[in-house]
Amino acid sequence: MKFEQLDQKLAEAKLGGGEKRIEAQHSKGKLTARERIEYLLDEGSFEEMGALVTHRSNNFGLDKQKFLGDGVVTGYGKINRRLVYVFSQDFTVLGGSLAEAHAEKICKIMDLAMENGAPVIGLNDSGGARIQEGVVSLGGYADIFYRNVQASGVIPQLSAIMGPCAGGAVYSPALTDFIFMVEGSSYMFVTGPNVVKTVTHEEVTAEELGGASTHSTKSGVTHFSSDNEVACMRKLREVLSYVPQNCEEPAPSLDYTPGDETRMHLDEIVPESANQPYDIKDVINGVIDEDSFCEVHESYGENIVVGFARLAGKSIGVVANQPAYLAGVLDITASNKAARFVRFCDAFNIPLLVFEDVPGFLPGTDQEWNGIISNGAKLLYAFSEATVPRITVITRKAYGGAYDVMNSKHIGADMNYAWPSAEIAVMGSKGAAEIIFRKEIASAEDPTAKLAEKDAEYAEMFAHPYRAAERGYVDEVIKPHDTRRKLIRAFDMLQNKVKHLPKKKHGNIPL
Ligand code: HXC
Repeated sequence: MKFEQLDQKLAEAKLGGGEKRIEAQHSKGKLTARERIEYLLDEGSFEEMGALVTHRSNNFGLDKQKFLGDGVVTGYGKINRRLVYVFSQDFTVLGGSLAEAHAEKICKIMDLAMENGAPVIGLNDSGGARIQEGVVSLGGYADIFYRNVQASGVIPQLSAIMGPCAGGAVYSPALTDFIFMVEGSSYMFVTGPNVVKTVTHEEVTAEELGGASTHSTKSGVTHFSSDNEVACMRKLREVLSYVPQNCEEPAPSLDYTPGDETRMHLDEIVPESANQPYDIKDVINGVIDEDSFCEVHESYGENIVVGFARLAGKSIGVVANQPAYLAGVLDITASNKAARFVRFCDAFNIPLLVFEDVPGFLPGTDQEWNGIISNGAKLLYAFSEATVPRITVITRKAYGGAYDVMNSKHIGADMNYAWPSAEIAVMGSKGAAEIIFRKEIASAEDPTAKLAEKDAEYAEMFAHPYRAAERGYVDEVIKPHDTRRKLIRAFDMLQNKVKHLPKKKHGNIPL
């Protein structure tokens, strides 16, 4: 039996770019491509494909530098006993750069993932298109981009950025559902600091230009940022636990034994004064299953909170205005952030729970000139087209257009609850009084007293949930401590919901 040659080749493939380069990778606090897969997948579940593939180009001395596997480890395995496909780029081989053979390996597992209905995870550590191989590298990336788009909404696609990634190595992740980064060792940019300096004369470090904190706070390109690579692999596993294998499957659920679902402390969260902030995450965590909140975009667009959670064991997506940050106002960033999350949940059958406390859209030239109209419309569009079970709880303010946008019944929400502290109106009572009683206030003997009187009159009319409840826009006014019980029952009632959009090729969301 000729096993020696096979053993030798597999050992060579495992070394990637060689022992020295692996040491260099470790000295930067980075794991190797294979070690990452080990931390990511269930123990012993990985099956590699294409370990002996090499590149075909001989340009620029590439014939003297052939590496088995061509700089990427590909295959399949299990996460929490569920099938996933994975590729992991090896920066020690020609900077993890992608060319014809490398791209073919990735395309092969993407095709298998689509045919077998399972998620694809990309562990990206690559300088982008392999410069020596020219147009076949660009073609290879385009083959992947095309597959990313075909797979969008069919199977979950997750991308982790594990090193300095440029060019196609950032555009493919950008087409996937979620991006994960590691503080201090992963970077994403279309062009690196040297090119930036040449073209714009800006001096910027890699960290400032495209580090994890830049992309998790400023650009919003990354959804999750972890302290180290192992934590990043754990986060990938955690996110997948909320998500079905493909768009045909229901969202996952864990066993749950019903108990006393009353949560008395919820009664104490909303302050007496409508202008006082409170943390909506106290409400979220008080309603959902204990420790089940997995926040997405935690440090980006903090005036809206989005994330996965479990309610009575079942996966849900939560979208909530955050009164503790910019009073929970809707702006461009918040609208984009929430719209994308709503569309992910809808694509993958994850029911939506909305907590609403919103004073309206943010006014001002900055917002108007940067397109709050079309960006705000994205959130309206995303909710309106979502066919998953959808429930809203109005905890306090539901003002103006934001009332409509935040999953109102008018745009297809199935159930709408309000707490007694809810105020459902075109705007706050003082602002409303100033506009509609302007002449009366101006001609009054004491304009301040008149304004106060009219303010109180408007508040009496609208600063409560009962006008909306009379119309049926609110299905029930509930006490906060009852919220969890009500939601469990309502989502249970909605679990077989079937709703189809009108026949169309695709809609035209205002991008
Ligand atoms: C071939 C590459 C490479 C590439 C890096 N290397 N990028 N080889 N093609 N694209 C090689 C380097 O030559 C080096 O080899 C080794 O990888 C490590 O690179 P360093 O530069 O030493 O590492 P570092 O300082 O960490 O910088 C990493 C980097 C930088 C920021 C990624 O290498 C870089 O800027 N690379 C080029 C990025 C780029 O412009 N790519 C093309 C994008 S176009 P040795 O042998 O010296 O160790 C693209 C098209 C897609 O991707 C279409 C998009 C829409």
